[in-house]
Amino acid sequence: MDAPVYILSSTHDPHASALAWALRRNGVPSQLNPSIRVDQRTRLSISIDEHGQQHVSLDGLDAQRVRSIWHRRPLLPEAGHCLEADRSFIKGQWKYLQKNLFDLADDLIDTLWVNRPRAAEFAESKLAQLRAAHAAGLKVPDTVVGNDAAEVAALIARWNRVVFKTFYLQHWQSESSGRSYEMTVALLDASTPLPDAAIGVSPGIYQRYIDKVLDVRVTIIGGQLFAIQMQQSNGEAYLDWRPHSCDENMRTTVFNVSATLETKLRDMMQRLGIVFGCVDLVVDRQGEIYFLEVNQAGAFLFVEESLPELPILRAMAAMLSAGRTDYSIDDCVDVRMSSYLDSDEYREINAMQRDTGQQLVLEP
Ligand SMILES: Nc1ncnc2c1ncn2[C@@H]1O[C@H](COP(=O)(O)OP(=O)(O)O)[C@@H](O)[C@H]1O
Ligand SMILES: [Mg+2]
Repeated sequence: MDAPVYILSSTHDPHASALAWALRRNGVPSQLNPSIRVDQRTRLSISIDEHGQQHVSLDGLDAQRVRSIWHRRPLLPEAGHCLEADRSFIKGQWKYLQKNLFDLADDLIDTLWVNRPRAAEFAESKLAQLRAAHAAGLKVPDTVVGNDAAEVAALIARWNRVVFKTFYLQHWQSESSGRSYEMTVALLDASTPLPDAAIGVSPGIYQRYIDKVLDVRVTIIGGQLFAIQMQQSNGEAYLDWRPHSCDENMRTTVFNVSATLETKLRDMMQRLGIVFGCVDLVVDRQGEIYFLEVNQAGAFLFVEESLPELPILRAMAAMLSAGRTDYSIDDCVDVRMSSYLDSDEYREINAMQRDTGQQLVLEP
């Protein structure tokens, strides 16, 4: 059989499903698994001999014939069928076997990893992102990460307006009303009470508010990038554009990335050691561009959904098929988000999400 692309993510992940569909349309087989342990029959060994030679054996897989590994959002391996009393120990053993494989990654399996797991883990740190961006010459807003109310008050005193953000997405459902809620950014100023006890309970990210006119999302897929800008129809920016992505009022258009900005973004990616990333930028009233963050496992399907002329799904399929970052998009057949949304794969994953009561997430 032709060399496959490995995708490590939940079987309920629409992005993984879309890529598996796009790869198949391109005649490329793929295997989607939540972790390195596919099932009870998985047999995996990593050996290192006295000469330092390494070898991986995974269910007869020829590690040298893997096109690429999309380390999208892997989960911890399950213990599978075992005594309940042993479950947590066996899970732990699998967790560490997976960690060993991921820590050596391309050293063991010499293929394109999107992204290399250690770099991916490092790049999940917002401070590491801000430092890499700054070192690459991008402007970054003054930021305080932590739970010290006095430091937050000092940040507000310096800049007047500050945003509060969380490290990761949080949503919940009210037991009484059944309504769903999602945490978004909050704007703080000198009039905002900052009780030490409340701020002290949970750390967060506090950042100078950039008086922006638009938000930019740049999706970097190896050697190619795709950028969009988001704004309200009155020319103003949203405080947080994400909850408005379906609004009539939202204007999404292509954003032109200058050669200088592209060089800086690529430098930032290189410093983090990642080849795929979704970068959030804002542009202020003077036209200055500020870096906010890069999501190394970010969502990108919504970009093509809002602007179908951007062939993001095709670019990702082309890179994973080619197993290299300097791929050509023309090497992949013309796979479109609109055709995926019409496919059986999409209907299947949509039904799966409905059954588990989850929302289908194509958004950032
Ligand atoms: N420092 C900031 N100034 C102005 N707007 C911001 C700032 N930080 C975040 N935002 C806005 O909040 C939203 C989410 O920002 P982002 O930094 O990407 O956080 P998240 O990790 O929650 O995605 C975007 O609409 C962005 O423009
Ligand atoms: Mg973001």
